[in-house]
Amino acid sequence: MKFSTRAARIEPFYVMEVAKAAQAQARALAGTRSPMIFLNIGEPDFTAPPLVQEAAVRAIHAGSTQYTPALGLDALRERISGWYQERFGVSVPARRIVVTAGASAALQLACLALIDAGDEILMPDPSYPCNRHFVSAAEGRAVLLPATAQERFQLSAAQVQAAWGEKTRGVLLASPSNPTGTSIAPDELRRIHAVVQAHGGITLIDEIYLGLSYDATYGQTALALGEDLISINSFSKYFNMTGWRLGWMVVPEAMVPVVERLAQNLFICANTVAQHAALACFEPDSIAEYERRRAEFKARRDYFIPELQALGLAVPVIPDGAFYAWADCSAAAARLGVQGSWDFALELMRRAHLAVTPGRDFGSFETQHFVRFSTANALPQLQEAVARLHSLLG
Ligand SMILES: Cc1ncc(COP(=O)(O)O)c(C=O)c1O
Repeated sequence: MKFSTRAARIEPFYVMEVAKAAQAQARALAGTRSPMIFLNIGEPDFTAPPLVQEAAVRAIHAGSTQYTPALGLDALRERISGWYQERFGVSVPARRIVVTAGASAALQLACLALIDAGDEILMPDPSYPCNRHFVSAAEGRAVLLPATAQERFQLSAAQVQAAWGEKTRGVLLASPSNPTGTSIAPDELRRIHAVVQAHGGITLIDEIYLGLSYDATYGQTALALGEDLISINSFSKYFNMTGWRLGWMVVPEAMVPVVERLAQNLFICANTVAQHAALACFEPDSIAEYERRRAEFKARRDYFIPELQALGLAVPVIPDGAFYAWADCSAAAARLGVQGSWDFALELMRRAHLAVTPGRDFGSFETQHFVRFSTANALPQLQEAVARLHSLLG
């Protein structure tokens, strides 16, 4: 069978491959005194809070399961608009909000709406691997620029300016970032946006982890910078609804009919039951629960990162959001007699029953030295992970 060159360009999502290997080993370890601890998980360990679950059940029982409009339920678009106002003090009219099947569908729609064959999109290295593949699937080319610890593992305006070429169409950023949990400094983001505007390009910003922000300096939406920005968001992370497949994006008004046409054809609509359930995310009781969980994620970060540092797993920039730690494992790998983060991750899995994600997925700039730890685990699990790291490396 002959497959498309487009499909051949898409590399495997190694995070998922590592997860499969970890699951297989976890089955073998089940019932032993040292079960696998999953520090490779890219999703919250919480599930949707009670009001959200009840709203889903009500929608099913009421038979509210037909297709919705391609742009999403009007009531949900209004609630999301209200959330921007209440949480960030930014006015985002509901008519600019498109409800999608997760941030993943939003990214695909944005790429298909904006990218022509051969167009180039600048993005940081390291960054979320699927983003470059969405660009590639739209026949564009992702141009990865080294993102250093000095720049919080994000792009700088000077880099964007220097890299801008004839084929450049825009930038795709994520703040806070996966895998680093670090955000773009607000002034730098303003400067990047100005550079992109000066070139007549587009600024796409993935704000899927913005709700899980622990530092007021960085916890602002880029949408405050202007109506030309495109912001991608999701119910997956802050709202703890990964498997429900629901997200949204905010687009310039002129882009709404284009995205609507694409969404009608490619998806018809996002999951109807999930949309009805998500209305309950914005109830005061649900928000109170999400905030309690956000505080718990912060407490985990505050415990885990100093422990990693003490073990010689340097975290060059303390994450201000999300639930990741991007740690340089060069010294620790040498202590185990291996080289590089891929082999280090395999050693941790084999010898300490800890699953972590090697840097390879996220780009090529120094990623062979880095692993991503996820703190989407209860504190006792993290403490047990630290104890195992101590006996292996200490
Ligand atoms: C930066 C980033 N963007 C997008 C996604 C996809 O999220 P969703 O579940 O909303 O499709 C993820 C998932 O891990 C992510 O980390």
